[in-house]
Amino acid sequence: MRILLFLIFITSVYSNTFDPADVFENALLTYVNKSVCPCENFYRHACSFDSPRNLMATALKNLTYELRQKQADLFWNHITLVLGFTGFSVGHEIGHSFFANHSGTDILPYFSENVEKCVQNQFNSTCNEYKEESCVTRNEMLDDNGADIFGLQLAYKLMEKYLSGRLEERIERLNVTQEQLFFYSFANQFCSGSLSKVFIEEEGDYDPHSVNNVRVNAVAQHPGFRKAFNCPDNSRMMKSATEQCIIYGENAPETRKRKKFQDNLRK
Ligand SMILES: *[C@@H]1O[C@H](CO)[C@@H](O)[C@H](O)[C@H]1NC(C)=O
Ligand SMILES: *[C@@H]1O[C@H](CO)[C@@H](O)[C@H](O)[C@H]1NC(C)=O
Ligand SMILES: *[C@@H]1O[C@H](CO)[C@@H](O)[C@H](O)[C@H]1NC(C)=O
Ligand SMILES: *[C@@H]1O[C@H](CO)[C@@H](O)[C@H](O)[C@H]1NC(C)=O
Ligand SMILES: *[C@@H]1O[C@H](CO)[C@@H](O)[C@H](O)[C@H]1NC(C)=O
Repeated sequence: MRILLFLIFITSVYSNTFDPADVFENALLTYVNKSVCPCENFYRHACSFDSPRNLMATALKNLTYELRQKQADLFWNHITLVLGFTGFSVGHEIGHSFFANHSGTDILPYFSENVEKCVQNQFNSTCNEYKEESCVTRNEMLDDNGADIFGLQLAYKLMEKYLSGRLEERIERLNVTQEQLFFYSFANQFCSGSLSKVFIEEEGDYDPHSVNNVRVNAVAQHPGFRKAFNCPDNSRMMKSATEQCIIYGENAPETRKRKKFQDNLRK
């Protein structure tokens, strides 16, 4: 669904600036031999000797090429928007491989053990500070809370990598920085016209996701957020921020490699 929306977005951007028919029209006029008058020999005027055998097929190839270029340009010009929205979603799903209740049978969630409390602390703190209609921090929500934190960190890291040094670049039209746009794009997918409230499924189970406003405001623990919006320590967002939870990577409390190493030392 999100990918579909993204495609629609891309298409709508195209429609203002780019008409695929232009490519065909250009092709038709590229091979005109101007030294032959159309009224003299229209065939030789319209079809120079340079013309490819199947002009339209070549044009179609060119169109595909051009679309790819446009898509790449759009991607790079709007990297913060893409990563905040699609990047977070993909990161969230990847996060499910690394983060889950460690007492499960999967191997990868092994990494979670030391971070579980950290994750739940943040969501509970945000829930306490920002409760709208309702919110809870329950064990059933652990996996998705962790995946949210992981997903945002992953998308942000990619953004830093791609934009190195340009995070604070202001997009004049929007009067926001690239980094701010990333967080807007992340948040926007959770917008709703009503107060955030706990959702209980038909079977009586809690929806495993935290409520919308808590999912968004838990962003407070990401140092990039504080930096992007220059948040003072005594702001509500910063007061509800708990320690940043690092789930995976060299700064994570435990990695499989390190554990193996420690186990070997003990032997
Ligand atoms: C253009 O037309 C001129 C005059 O007929 C001809 O000599 C020339 O080869 C043509 N050029 C091409 C590229 O078709
Ligand atoms: C296709 O693209 C090439 C390279 O840009 C260009 O030289 C050629 O004229 C184009 N052909 C058509 C049929 O559009
Ligand atoms: C969440 O915070 C409330 C209020 O401080 C506390 O009573 C509750 O035990 C906490 N729950 C979790 C899961 O941390
Ligand atoms: C993890 O799973 C164990 C065993 O199923 C359960 O007792 C515990 O409450 C779970 N912890 C969390 C935070 O979900
Ligand atoms: C642009 O944003 C800055 C900082 O958020 C603000 O101070 C400024 O007034 C804004 N400018 C316009 C034209 O809205």
